[in-house]
Amino acid sequence: MATRDDTHFGERTVPLAEKQGLVDGVFHSVARRYDLMNDLMSAGLHRAWKDALVTAVNPPRSDKGFALLDLAGGTGDVAFRVAEAGGENTRVTVCDINEEMLSVGRERAAERGLDGIVSFEQGNAEEVPYPDRSFDCVTIAFGIRNVPRIERALAEAYRVLKIGGRFLCLEFSSVDVPGLDKLYELYSFQVIPRVGEAVTGDREAYQYLVESIRKFPKPKAFAAMIEAAGFRRVSFKAMTGGVVALHSGWKL
Ligand SMILES: C[S@@+](CC[C@H](N)C(=O)[O-])C[C@H]1O[C@@H](n2cnc3c(N)ncnc32)[C@H](O)[C@@H]1O
Repeated sequence: MATRDDTHFGERTVPLAEKQGLVDGVFHSVARRYDLMNDLMSAGLHRAWKDALVTAVNPPRSDKGFALLDLAGGTGDVAFRVAEAGGENTRVTVCDINEEMLSVGRERAAERGLDGIVSFEQGNAEEVPYPDRSFDCVTIAFGIRNVPRIERALAEAYRVLKIGGRFLCLEFSSVDVPGLDKLYELYSFQVIPRVGEAVTGDREAYQYLVESIRKFPKPKAFAAMIEAAGFRRVSFKAMTGGVVALHSGWKL
């Protein structure tokens, strides 16, 4: 029987304290092929979803300072997009728990000449190593469902935001278009683990990733969690028939 100290790791119920280690194993295994897999799995759609996130971040194009924290930022995809969209004093800190993902990100930053603008630091989203009120914006893309204690990560995002700052979270959501839901289910469970196995050699990692989407709270329930963390003007926007939702909240 599941207890208060249990959580989900995909379809499995596991002790809360064990989930992070299992998640770390998944991303350690797929880090080198992670970006290629994103393109393959989403048929390139993740680019449009991330573009919508960057539009919402809206970094200033002027020389005004702007500090973004990209939690669970992995190999830096969101960070690079924001750095490229922003002005000369835009700075991005990628904080991720997994050194393997971060090291791929550092290499990519150097290749793009963004290493002075985007920094990669190891940290747990449940306990981030930054002072209160130090960022203008906090983002987390396809990361929150991997964090064992989501409430702690939301509380930390709130704590490190400046007053007037915005929290934005991009995450897989629930498809609510009749017909598309069945197709999406079939694609997720029959296709993605097989492609994952062919490309990364790790079918289980991708089995976990699709199962974790199913277990993630529905968008209204997640919006309520964001509100409970203290954020105001909380809203969300479904994209691609609900495959993904962009959640937003302000620290006012
Ligand atoms: C699906 S990837 C998303 C990466 C990136 N945000 C993107 O959109 O390409 C999920 C990331 O969450 C990170 N992660 C999982 N648990 C975490 C935690 N507790 N704190 C920080 N990062 C975590 C993983 O290491 C992984 O890099």
